[in-house]
Parts: sequence; structure tokens; C-alpha cells
Amino acid sequence: MKKIEAIIRPEVFAKVREGLAIEGIDGLSITEIAGCGRQEGRTGIFRGNTYEMEFSSKLKLEMVVDNAKVQPIIDVLLRDASTGEVGDGKIFIYPVEQAIRIRTKEVGAVAVE
Ligand SMILES: Nc1ncnc2c1ncn2[C@@H]1O[C@H](COP(=O)(O)OP(=O)(O)OP(=O)(O)O)[C@@H](O)[C@H]1O
Ligand SMILES: [Mg+2]
Repeated sequence: MKKIEAIIRPEVFAKVREGLAIEGIDGLSITEIAGCGRQEGRTGIFRGNTYEMEFSSKLKLEMVVDNAKVQPIIDVLLRDASTGEVGDGKIFIYPVEQAIRIRTKEVGAVAVE
């Protein structure tokens, strides 16, 4: 299993959600975050004046999935979360040791289906 963490623009969420549903991804967590990439969150000087670059509002999606679903999810994100402009976000992938569905006590990949 892997955890896919994707930082995306809030405005692409509806489209991404639709794409994920088509790939059979139903379980996910969303957090509203403030973030900065290469362009935000630092001080810039323009024509002698100092400007504080703002943090941007983003959504963080977290999905724990079977290994076989990782590439289809990446494909959805690259297709539906992209505008081509700076600030489109990032995808991080982590190994997951275990998952347990509390209600049924199911363990492993079956718990994240
Ligand atoms: N290295 C990082 N670690 C954790 N979060 C990050 C990292 N880089 C970006 N983010 C998150 O992703 C959001 C969007 O980043 P962004 O797409 O602007 O990255 P970038 O590297 O500046 O790429 P681009 O040049 O395309 O804008 C940030 O607001 C932040 O929340
Ligand atoms: Mg950026």
C-alpha cells in the first residue's frame, strides 16, 4: 500500500474527485491548507520596495491505496489538477505499513478498497 498526498488548487477539486471516482477511489481525506512553493512565502524587492509574497490556499488530498492504484491516481491528478500555471501543486508518495478498517477489523489492502 501507498499513501498519495496531493497538494492541489481548490478550484480543480470537483474535477479531480470525478476522475478519482471513475478509478474507483472513494476513500480520501481533504484538508484546507496554506502553502508556498517557489514563488510564495518570501520577501521580494520590486523597484526598491519590499513586498511580502502571500501564502496560497490549497487543498491537501490524502489517499491510502493498493499499489496497483497508484499510477491511475497519478494519471488523474496530472490530467485534472493541471492548469499549466505556476502553483499547480505537487504529489508525494509514501509507503504504508498497515491499514485497518475499524468496523470489520479487516487488515491490509482489503481495508482500503
Ligand atoms: N517541497 C514541498 N514540500 C511540501 N509542500 C510543498 C512543497 N512544494 C510545494 N508544496 C505545496 O504545494 C503547493 C503548490 O506548490 P507549487 O505548485 O507552487 O510548487 P512549485 O515548486 O512552486 O512549482 P511551480 O513552479 O509550478 O509553482 C504549495 O503551496 C505547498 O502547499
Ligand atoms: Mg509555485
